[in-house]
Amino acid sequence: MRFALCILVLMFLPYFSVGQRGIYTSTKHGNTSTGVYRINTEPRGACSQCHYQHASSSGPSTGGPYEYALFAANANPLCYTCHNTSSALFIYQGATVYNQSSHATSSSVVWPGPTPPARPLGNWGKCVNCHNPHGYKDTTGLIPNMAFSREENLCLTCHDGSPASKNINAPISKTLQAPCQYKRKAFYFGKWVREFCIPQQSPLRV
Ligand code: HEC
Ligand code: HEC
Ligand code: HEC
Ligand code: HEC
Repeated sequence: MRFALCILVLMFLPYFSVGQRGIYTSTKHGNTSTGVYRINTEPRGACSQCHYQHASSSGPSTGGPYEYALFAANANPLCYTCHNTSSALFIYQGATVYNQSSHATSSSVVWPGPTPPARPLGNWGKCVNCHNPHGYKDTTGLIPNMAFSREENLCLTCHDGSPASKNINAPISKTLQAPCQYKRKAFYFGKWVREFCIPQQSPLRV
């Protein structure tokens, strides 16, 4: 038992030393009245709703622990345990819809880093290319939606030519060099995310 606890402390040490300490309790997952709740033997919002202290408690029937002592393999179905259906606002529309989107099907959807660090190529399509289940903070605090980066900065980290081939960054920065004549907004997840200029010659002109 003591040995298991030691392992646990050692395991969790890196998490608390990367400058993200304390952010989890401010996230929707960590909320003690509305947060994660999968098993009734552990408090709502607790780490132990997703991580087992002992792989044996009700871990894989094969006996071996999952990565990071998680209750399931570290992949999207773990998230679908609780996010199989739409969120209240339909911003996230559930597993069936998500799995058909280019973000789930393109093998280029891999977070390129550097903050947080790049994910391995085999991680394409995973929710954790945009979200951290523990929350993620920058100098101004917790980033909304447990995302890695705020607003369009999240999108542009990939949509600047690589890894996403659709380069949205180029037209946005181009328009910064000349006065704006034509404007267009980007609509995503039911929300206007940004107004940007469109060059006069653009076929996108509206
Ligand atoms: C909603 C489920 C969930 C909850 C709740 C949760 N985790 Fe995790 N945790 C994960 C997943 C999924 C991963 C793997 C993430 C990845 O691959 O990036 C992970 C990875 C980790 C890791 C190893 C990777 C790293 O980021 O250093 C540590 C340590 C960790 N969690 C600690 C915690 C602690 C401590 C808490 C509570 C404060 C907690 N977790 C709560 C799902 C969860
Ligand atoms: C390409 C980046 C990206 C990926 C991949 C991604 N998300 Fe999101 N997600 C976002 C962004 C950005 C928001 C916030 C959208 C907004 O506020 O309009 C969000 C919001 C959410 C929300 C909150 C919705 C609400 O109503 O408040 C949930 C839940 C969610 N995502 C779950 C998931 C799950 C589960 C996966 C994987 C199956 C996933 N996301 C994959 C970017 C992503
Ligand atoms: C044990 C259940 C559980 C698991 C597993 C789980 N979530 Fe959640 N998630 C929740 C709950 C509960 C909420 C809060 C819903 C609310 O307050 O409306 C939430 C909220 C979210 C939000 C919205 C955050 C915000 O600030 O609006 C995102 C994004 C999200 N989860 C992503 C994920 C991802 C990615 C995974 C897998 C790595 C995951 N969740 C695994 C239960 C879970
Ligand atoms: C982790 C990298 C990554 C992030 C972050 C990301 N995307 Fe993507 N996205 C991709 C890749 C890769 C594709 C596949 C098409 C391509 O290569 O351009 C894609 C496809 C898309 C498509 C569909 C294009 C099509 O032709 O099917 C849209 C729309 C889109 N992304 C919008 C966004 C928005 C809005 C955000 C921010 C909320 C975002 N993406 C964040 C990597 C990413």
